Amino acid sequence: MNVLLLGSGGREHALAMKIAQSPRLNSLFIAPGNSGTARHGQNVPLNILDFEEIEKFTVNNRIELIVAGPEEPLVKGIADFFAGKQPAVIGPSKKGAALEGSKDFAKNFMVKYNIPTARYKSFDHAQLSQGYDFLDSLAPPFVLKADGLAAGKGVIIVNELSEAKSALKEMLDGKFGAASQRVVIEEYLRGVEVSVFVLTDGKSYKILPEAKDYKRIGDGDSGLNTGGMGAVSPVPFVDEIFTAKVRDKIIEPTIKGLQAENIDYRGFIFFGLMNCAGEPYLIEYNVRMGDPETEVVMPRLDADILELFEGVAKGSLNGKQCGVSAKNAVTVVAVSGGYPENYMKGYEIKGIESVKNDIVFHAGAVEKNGKIFTAGGRVLTVTSLADNLSEAVESAYKSIQNIKFTDIYYRKDIGKDLLKETSVLK
Ligand code: AMP
Ligand code: GLY
Repeated sequence: MNVLLLGSGGREHALAMKIAQSPRLNSLFIAPGNSGTARHGQNVPLNILDFEEIEKFTVNNRIELIVAGPEEPLVKGIADFFAGKQPAVIGPSKKGAALEGSKDFAKNFMVKYNIPTARYKSFDHAQLSQGYDFLDSLAPPFVLKADGLAAGKGVIIVNELSEAKSALKEMLDGKFGAASQRVVIEEYLRGVEVSVFVLTDGKSYKILPEAKDYKRIGDGDSGLNTGGMGAVSPVPFVDEIFTAKVRDKIIEPTIKGLQAENIDYRGFIFFGLMNCAGEPYLIEYNVRMGDPETEVVMPRLDADILELFEGVAKGSLNGKQCGVSAKNAVTVVAVSGGYPENYMKGYEIKGIESVKNDIVFHAGAVEKNGKIFTAGGRVLTVTSLADNLSEAVESAYKSIQNIKFTDIYYRKDIGKDLLKETSVLK
């Protein structure tokens, strides 16, 4: 099979690695890719939002499958563009992608299909005073979300009512452009977050390994929000009972809801959950895999991913094998100093080749004349797979010390909160 993978992050390096392990693969192309994806296939400089350009490439290179890494091409309708023609696209139609592209659509969907979620209301510019009234009716902290895609920055959580009101006004006045023309205000959920992923052909689904993401820049979950600073899989509290609740209350109603709405959904669904005293609540949907979650999910996936993708494309996923390794995976993200605010690019990265026992996934990294240079905020991630969490944490941290670039920064506590949790449980 000839495959075109879209995207350029650590997630895409992990997907490229998994795709390249498949005996079904003939050629893998990655657009635009990074210095890591280039080790598993050929990077091609395509604009992933220019579907005509992508189509020309797929015809010339006899591509049979497009795998969408990030959400933008899906929200813009790449699956609809190729519907009914070759190649098949792994990722939902535009209507399905609205589960991520519009928080208001997603919340309406959750309520309609009885999926547990935080109580909410949404407001546009003309409804500012109703928005203030709704805030008055809630207890702090206050959660405000831009309806549309805002590069992961559209969620504001504040403790003071006055701050919440000014944030609402600023958002409706265009703080996040068109994304915040409508704002969702919701009840604050207290609990521990976990991400659950499924792959679906619209009828059946496979549950992939779950993961915990570390979103804040600083140790102990302090400082600014980021795209993700590390991840762990499995997550200790996700036992059979919790998984059964997630399946019955969240995954199944979602798949049935998509069918009832006649939404063509063939791809990944990422459920961002909050575990509130043992009960799962859905915070958000994403219509793609997570980053850096993919960097712990793919190494634990015991399956031929192209066989699964073929099942997704042909509607025959039910009969496919999808095993999960019992091993523990931990990934630590190394970022450019200053991220998630301003940072420098173009520093040489050294030491990647000296990491022998773990996997280095490249993210914001490019290769020039045989050398690797930083090219983004999140530069690379180091994933370790071991028999237990403590060994995986130890190994990932040992390996990452071999990697050097100017102003490198990474969190020192990834997975360590869960180590404490498991030792207390024992
Ligand atoms: P979202 O983009 O919807 O995932 O929100 C970003 C982050 O804000 C989530 O990962 C949570 O940490 C937090 N968050 C969002 N909604 C809520 C909520 N209702 N209660 C508590 N925290 C939330
Ligand atoms: N790591 C969070 C995300 O991919 O959305």
